[in-house]
Amino acid sequence: MARLVVVSNRVSAPKSGTRAGGLEVAVMASLKHNPGIWFGWSGRVSVKTLETRTIESDRISFVLTDLPKEAYEEYYYGFANRVLWPILHYRLDLAEFSRQDLSGYTKVNEHFAEELHKILRPDDVVWVHDYHFLLLAKALRERGHQNRIGFFLHTPFPPVEIIAGLPHHERIISALCHYDLVGFQTEIDAANFARYVESECQYPGNRKDGYNTGERVVQIGDFPVGIETESFAKMARRAIKSSFVSGVLASLSGRAMIIGVDRLDYSKGIEHRIAAFERFLEHHPDWRNNVTYLQISPKSRSAIPEYMDMERNVSTIVGRLNGTYGEASWTPVRYVNKAHTRTALAGLYRGSRAALVTPLRDGMNLVAKEYIAAQDPEDPGVLILSRFAGAAMECKPALLVNPYDSEAVAAAIHRALSMPFEERRARYEALYKIIAANDIQDWPGRFLKALTGSPTLAASITKP
Ligand code: G6P
Repeated sequence: MARLVVVSNRVSAPKSGTRAGGLEVAVMASLKHNPGIWFGWSGRVSVKTLETRTIESDRISFVLTDLPKEAYEEYYYGFANRVLWPILHYRLDLAEFSRQDLSGYTKVNEHFAEELHKILRPDDVVWVHDYHFLLLAKALRERGHQNRIGFFLHTPFPPVEIIAGLPHHERIISALCHYDLVGFQTEIDAANFARYVESECQYPGNRKDGYNTGERVVQIGDFPVGIETESFAKMARRAIKSSFVSGVLASLSGRAMIIGVDRLDYSKGIEHRIAAFERFLEHHPDWRNNVTYLQISPKSRSAIPEYMDMERNVSTIVGRLNGTYGEASWTPVRYVNKAHTRTALAGLYRGSRAALVTPLRDGMNLVAKEYIAAQDPEDPGVLILSRFAGAAMECKPALLVNPYDSEAVAAAIHRALSMPFEERRARYEALYKIIAANDIQDWPGRFLKALTGSPTLAASITKP
């Protein structure tokens, strides 16, 4: 039987010490119905021998490979996260390109291809995740693999006018055409890539039927990632009663809570959001001492200068706001860098009157969807959502905002906190219906169908 071979930088393998974050739920859903392998980085770097080991667990083989120390730094801290990440999030101004980093990135893609080459069978279906591996299909093709290989990008894909600012984009971005299917979170991202293929690669074809590279027809699709809606709702119902969540709610002394949960990343718009909360307190003195904003932001990629700068900046503005508006008995912004479990977050979402999900740019943003799933239908909270998150394409009944407009976000906070029950319920019901209709359990099937002609690998694979 054909196997599904999933590839990502981080792998949530038992006892591996690395977590795949937002990608984890999606990958796990795909491996649940298809026997296979999850291949990725072991979490270890080495200057001597590189090991690749396998952990068998729950019908999944986790194959984990070490990376050479120097190449890892150039690949992960350098090219992937100081060049590709900002550019994919429309921030050409933050990109720090170096040829050395591109060479480390290429080496790591080659190393992954070499290790995969040792285990791949001709009928395996390969599914590669995210911007760390733009060059992987090319490297596999060069080793003779004609397997069906799909790629899914979890981040946004910007218009050609921005992506063309990436040095060597002709080589790096067009390498995606060695995949059989390139999938995106939204139709906008897919259309941006299609326009890139048309104008920069000049392959004949179109968005619907794919583009002919001479070697294959590369298909482009949009596959918005969802969540396990029902089980998340169930988790929230239980979690709100946990001693942790009850303790947090009790500590508010009856004040309303607004929640924000994001990795500490400049794409999340945390600084803009705090400024908006400050505007809100400035314009609505009646809400001072009556609302607490909890921002949970685990640190991320802290060795990168742009991340260090933002960590410092967020701490400064939170301190300033609390100093200006706080009282001995009230801290307006509770700012926490500690990571919380999904269960704890589910309970906190349910206990919050509003959520601020206001990234400046985001591939999807699952916090938005989880917040909706977690609400109590008898007293639902309000989602304030950036129009620049992929989730906004689906979640139209949320309060959609421009995250750069702090006055507008401040007004949305006021509207959310004063919204009558009937309107809150109507918005919640409409949103719940939307996220329930796009459950993550159906997501792998949609991608695999586009890649292989069949939603599961158990059925025979037709090669289009
Ligand atoms: C985003 C990316 C993932 C990445 C995650 C955490 O969601 O799309 O590929 O794993 O951020 O970032 P990190 O650099 O810690 O893996």
